[in-house]
Amino acid sequence: MIDPFGRNLDYLRVSITDRCNLRCVYCMPPSGVEWKPHGSMLSFEEILRLCGIMAGLGIRKIKVTGGEPLVRKGAAFFIRSLKALQGIEQVTLTTNGLLLDSFLGEAKDAIPDAFNISLDTLDAERFARITRSTSENSGGSAESLLKKILRVMDDLLKKNIPLKINCVPVRSFNEEDIVPIAALARDKNIAVRFIELMPMGIASALRPVSNNEVAAMLEKQFGPLTPFSGVLGNGPARYYTIKGFLGKLGFISPLSHKFCESCTRLRLSSEGMLKPCLSSDIGMDLRLLLRSNASDEELRAAIMELVSKKPWAHTFLQSMPLAPDSGAANTIDATGAVAPADPKGGMYRIGG
Ligand code: 5AD
Ligand code: SF4
Repeated sequence: MIDPFGRNLDYLRVSITDRCNLRCVYCMPPSGVEWKPHGSMLSFEEILRLCGIMAGLGIRKIKVTGGEPLVRKGAAFFIRSLKALQGIEQVTLTTNGLLLDSFLGEAKDAIPDAFNISLDTLDAERFARITRSTSENSGGSAESLLKKILRVMDDLLKKNIPLKINCVPVRSFNEEDIVPIAALARDKNIAVRFIELMPMGIASALRPVSNNEVAAMLEKQFGPLTPFSGVLGNGPARYYTIKGFLGKLGFISPLSHKFCESCTRLRLSSEGMLKPCLSSDIGMDLRLLLRSNASDEELRAAIMELVSKKPWAHTFLQSMPLAPDSGAANTIDATGAVAPADPKGGMYRIGG
């Protein structure tokens, strides 16, 4: 699938649920996701049909995301089926790690090829504040949840499964954690990536920390960052090494270093909306087609139509009027550009 700008789209991110057992301040509303009628989500069979068709069109790598993908029953079965699709070379999973233990037990021979674990702090109090976790909604104290995540990370490393940590620095939430989280890559063979806060949904009311600032903090603490020339993952991260580090440090900087020119992804929401870009408001409603008995040929044509509309770049930096009911502020990034405040949605709806 070649888009109008010559990019070969071979990477699909599939969100299998909007739900999550955490409520991260930059992702979820405090009350969680809104109630949706039964059947609004695609079934695993429907997603597998679409993935099979897209594999036929050139998708080679699939990232399973959420919300928190492991809260959906049958995730292990689904990943096993994805891995078995002809043409799919890699299946990876993004998770907050809380249910990973039981998933690994269930998945047995169908373990994803690599994992991304979202982790913004190593401090129990800040973990509770950022993830808005309570013992009732998340199944344990913040301290026990953090321990659980660190334990499962070590399990994955013992099994030699590639592991990346995603950390989103947010002003006045976890600046103190930037150095300790980066130190995980000093002590373990993992890639720790810092993701600049994207002003989507409720995140637009929060203040980002630019990756330039993060890099300066890390150099001050650990010494110079040296660009890493090897290939690591399929995404837009730029990777660095630091002397004495076992792992790598990565920076995903949608605001300060736009990476759209190399974006080869499509995104499928849990409700079957195929989207060409994280910031895009266009999408192809594949659920509607699936449920009106569309043939594979018709689905292929719809997918290709969407591909023909993939925009050149995201629009996070375009100035947009404040929505009157949002209570949110437009954010201004390190370069002084104004990013839009969007009262609706959040990353949980499209899986990052
Ligand atoms: N900006 C940047 N990253 C975000 N994530 C969720 N919401 C945002 C946002 N607004 C991250 C999560 C997860 C990844 C898929 O996206 O931390 O690791
Ligand atoms: Fe859940 Fe991930 Fe969103 Fe946090 S960032 S609420 S862990 S989906």
